[in-house]
Amino acid sequence: MPPSQPQILNPDEDGIAYAADLLKDGAMVAIPTETVYGLAADATNAEAVAEIYKAKGRPSVNPLIVHVADLAAAEHLAFFGPEARDLAGAFWPGPLTLVLPKVVAAGVVPEVSAGLSTLAVRIPAHPVAHAILRAVGRPIAAPSANLSGQVSPTTAAHVAAGLGRKVAAILDAGPTDVGVESTILTVDDGRVSVLRDGGIPREAIAAMTGPLASDTMPAKVTAPGQMTSHYAPNAQLDINSPLQDTDAVQIGFGAGPEVDFSLSRDGNLVEAAARLFAVLHAADALARETGRARISVAKIPEKGLGRAINDRLRRAAAPRPDPL
Ligand code: TXA
Ligand code: MG
Repeated sequence: MPPSQPQILNPDEDGIAYAADLLKDGAMVAIPTETVYGLAADATNAEAVAEIYKAKGRPSVNPLIVHVADLAAAEHLAFFGPEARDLAGAFWPGPLTLVLPKVVAAGVVPEVSAGLSTLAVRIPAHPVAHAILRAVGRPIAAPSANLSGQVSPTTAAHVAAGLGRKVAAILDAGPTDVGVESTILTVDDGRVSVLRDGGIPREAIAAMTGPLASDTMPAKVTAPGQMTSHYAPNAQLDINSPLQDTDAVQIGFGAGPEVDFSLSRDGNLVEAAARLFAVLHAADALARETGRARISVAKIPEKGLGRAINDRLRRAAAPRPDPL
């Protein structure tokens, strides 16, 4: 009988070499990054990329991020203008993704970018992700390692619970540090726009680039994956809640009354981002165990990492599409 759980690998030399071999052979491996776990596959292998969409149940119009080890590899895949180069210099390796014009002949299969003329590229800061990218020596496509529309994984256990045997192996390097996905930026005519708030706060980007185009005018480009309902637990989520609904599982932030879970008792947004998805997973499990239909989350300030947290919470609370 085949095992019901994927193989769990240690983040040591052997585990990394084994994961790299699986990836080179076209298999999918869940790997840690500093943001969330990614469902990795060889971005130059059309079958491996197709498996990612299939395993996640991801619409084929929602493009993937390509991960590389260094700027030279990134510049091989996409065209960098001066602003993109400055952003890369300031924030890579790290939780930043740049959507840039794609170099067509670079070998990344068109399905990775869902046929768009742009490519999303990122150099992750996690040492294990970095070691794998070096060992594979090819661009790696990696969306978050969850089923499409569900809560992103910040631990190997989250990945196993969501994807199970759809993934050949999971490289378990413990909980991820940042806890929310990368900030996605695009550069158009020298102007920088935010397509998704994430691990690098917009304030840090604007401090370098000046006012962001996305804060002053409607964006011309969008991230197709930013569909309204996403990150959804099974229970219904109420956000910006005064936490007075005692029938709901309660998630607090900052000082306050007794709650089931707190994102950060000190009101620290970095800690809250790191804990967000694990708390949502745990709150959903508690709701299921105790037969509660709702999860209430306290109001989170809309600044720094609070923007990425609120973005994920708004989409987790959004009306769900009808099941197909
Ligand atoms: O932190 C992260 O970014 C994680 C880790 C694993 O690296 N990855 C991640 O991937 O969050 P995913 O697939 O869950 O989200 C990728 C987002 C999607 O919303 C997609 O629409 C957008 O990136 N995207 C990818 N390529 C794009 C493109 N060419 N133009 C606009 N948006 C793009
Ligand atoms: Mg995702």
